[in-house]
Amino acid sequence: MNKNFYITTPIYYPSGKPHMGHAYSSIVADIFARFKRLENYNVLFLTGTDEHGQKIQKEAKKNNKDPKIFCDELSETFRSLTKTLNLSNDDFIRTTESRHFKSVIEIWNKLVGSGDIYLDKYSGWYSVSDEAFYDEDEIEDKNGNKISKSSGSLVEWVEEESYFFKLSAWSNKLLEFYKKNPNFILPESRKNEVVRFVEKGLKDLSISRTSFTWGIPVPNNEKHVIYVWLDALTNYISALNFPNIEDKKYKAFWPADVHIIGKDILRFHAVFWPAFLLAAKLPLPKRVFGHGWILSDDKKMSKSLGNILDPLEIIDKYGIDQLRYYLVKEVSLGNDGSISLENLKNCINNDLANNYGNLCQRVFSFIKKNCDNKIPYSTKLNNSDKALLKNLKNSLPKLQSLMDNQDLNEYIKTVVGFSFEANKYFNDSEPWTVKKKDPERMNAILFTIVDQIKNISILLNPIIPYSTNKVLAMINISNENIKIDEINNDKTLNHEKELGELEILFEKIENDN
Ligand code: MSP
Repeated sequence: MNKNFYITTPIYYPSGKPHMGHAYSSIVADIFARFKRLENYNVLFLTGTDEHGQKIQKEAKKNNKDPKIFCDELSETFRSLTKTLNLSNDDFIRTTESRHFKSVIEIWNKLVGSGDIYLDKYSGWYSVSDEAFYDEDEIEDKNGNKISKSSGSLVEWVEEESYFFKLSAWSNKLLEFYKKNPNFILPESRKNEVVRFVEKGLKDLSISRTSFTWGIPVPNNEKHVIYVWLDALTNYISALNFPNIEDKKYKAFWPADVHIIGKDILRFHAVFWPAFLLAAKLPLPKRVFGHGWILSDDKKMSKSLGNILDPLEIIDKYGIDQLRYYLVKEVSLGNDGSISLENLKNCINNDLANNYGNLCQRVFSFIKKNCDNKIPYSTKLNNSDKALLKNLKNSLPKLQSLMDNQDLNEYIKTVVGFSFEANKYFNDSEPWTVKKKDPERMNAILFTIVDQIKNISILLNPIIPYSTNKVLAMINISNENIKIDEINNDKTLNHEKELGELEILFEKIENDN
């Protein structure tokens, strides 16, 4: 029986053009989803758009559009981004869909039922841009304006009738949960940040607004709309057909295995969401992984600084696999990381064009010229051939555990290391010098190196799916054989069929490009 794996990205505010941060969150989640499929898991990978709230209502008004029409258009931009990024998401949820509406109402009613909601008045600071309430000690003055210390966005004073969630009552339960589940929040530094925040004691949370209308109305009091974060977080179970907890999807996939998010929305996912679920007596997700910020030239990307690298422009010019690889190789997942065009080009040249790409190109053109374009078969591998293959095979448990712990950087470093090693092996073994005097030796070398290219391609497949699919297709490996198990299977290679045509995998980039 297949095991199940449920992974989510944040659902995006469709309030502008998608940028590199959006692309990063999704690509990271996609890599883990694809890896789990290679391990034969039954994967559900969810993304979508977060369409309610004051921020969207304001943007729609600025654009002279009805909010629903505004969201219909912009949500499509994000849906098409999933294609451009080559995401393998199984579902795309919109919070304006009826399946979500139903699920949010049920959560609300459950919180009412458990006695966790009461009506009062909110007076305090609110950031429309973050859709977040801030305490006095979380804001500061800047040029006569009040801004949030953590996000830098403008806050405004709000006074309105509001329903509250008794978050304060859940502090101890949350702390107990973090203690019992030490890997619930990763990386460790983020967990510490959350624990410190909860240890200070939590205040009750305002969970409805009355000063605008674009949201899901509170049952029995339509003057209020449900706070957009309570609404948005619920998407993770709406997609599983909650409130029907007997539904196949809900049963198979809840609790989620991991929510991939950026560090700016950690508090919502690691404090509010588990508290809502505890109060609603629903199981908590197994992990929340908070990645860092993508910086451009060491500064946070922002429109006003003019340092935004547009993912679509880069993909157009250099290719999607190139961008996927660069982002996850360059930025250490969990920390902030700077990216630049200069480094992107170097990375494409060094790791992709000169290393993996060059290895494939050299080996396959050698086979084409010298072996009737068929992968030679051999039973006569010598110790160095065997050592090359064994080294990679032996590292599989470690690689799988790295991915289970979201240690993507160590994973990539190890796999790229195998590719460098394979290049060196091919150079040192010199099949071209033994071709005449010892063809059996040449066959053993080629058999070994193609098997290793197959293995490396499977391991790189979640990161650069287009290119590795091309390589695997050309050596006649069918899609269903792109699995981790095939790495231990030396019968996967087809020695009867000719190799397909291999186009250049990664163009080398010249300096002025
Ligand atoms: N709508 C909320 C999420 C609700 S989830 C129930 C939201 N949307 S967002 O569009 O503003 O951000 C989506 C994701 O992109 C977040 O994980 C955020 O951290 C990430 N990024 C946005 N800018 C970023 C960078 N510059 N770098 C890395 N990721 C950042 O938040």
